[in-house]
Amino acid sequence: MRPLIKHISASRLVWEEILSTGAMRKVYSIDPDTGSDTSFVKLPAGWQGPAGAHYHSDYEEALVLDGDVDLNGDDLLVSGSYLYRPGGIVHGWVDRSTGGSEIIIKMGMETDLVSVGRPLFSEEYDYPGKRVVDGRPHISHLKTLELTWSSYSNIFNNIGKKVLSTNSDNGSQTYLIKIPVGFVGDFRLDSNHTHEWIVLEGSMVLADGSVFELMDYSHRPKQTVVTNIVTSLAGAKVLIWSNPTS
Ligand SMILES: [Fe+2]
Repeated sequence: MRPLIKHISASRLVWEEILSTGAMRKVYSIDPDTGSDTSFVKLPAGWQGPAGAHYHSDYEEALVLDGDVDLNGDDLLVSGSYLYRPGGIVHGWVDRSTGGSEIIIKMGMETDLVSVGRPLFSEEYDYPGKRVVDGRPHISHLKTLELTWSSYSNIFNNIGKKVLSTNSDNGSQTYLIKIPVGFVGDFRLDSNHTHEWIVLEGSMVLADGSVFELMDYSHRPKQTVVTNIVTSLAGAKVLIWSNPTS
């Protein structure tokens, strides 16, 4: 299980190159048991993925923050594009970025990559016998900017929420929240869930005084700390993973 990380300032993390591909990343956290990691990845202009068609043994989840990624040669990911690939989904025929890109990527285990040679289809598909059914559907491209904000809850009805994906087996979820400009209140996350988050826009202050700026990160195993967001003068948009089981 990933440890408690109350607050990492993104500015303190160093960029490292991913396997001499030209892509750079900052790793926010790694699960020491599974190798699952969460990273902020930057692709340079003119980047081309070296792998060709491949699959991973566990899931791969990504939210594009900026730029462009031409996925599989026929699907252009841009700001707000989200994907969730369970293990065993063949993808990556041609991955390239013309102008560069910034992406949040979460992998279900330490990056393992199985090349498939000549793919059977031109769309993403289940590699025979390798598809992992993990409770979440395969989402090849969700345009999150086109989703409308709903209220987080009756109590916190001034907090917006967009659900990106849900695990129907255990209720774990990936979602965005939008805290309004000038927010002063007491927005509490359910401490019966493990939470992991990254601030994508704006900033926010917690009741314990910690200040989360752009791209700052936290990982909070359930029942470890109480999380109350109390002010956000600039407003904030936050990517959150919640999990009631881990
Ligand atoms: Fe991949």
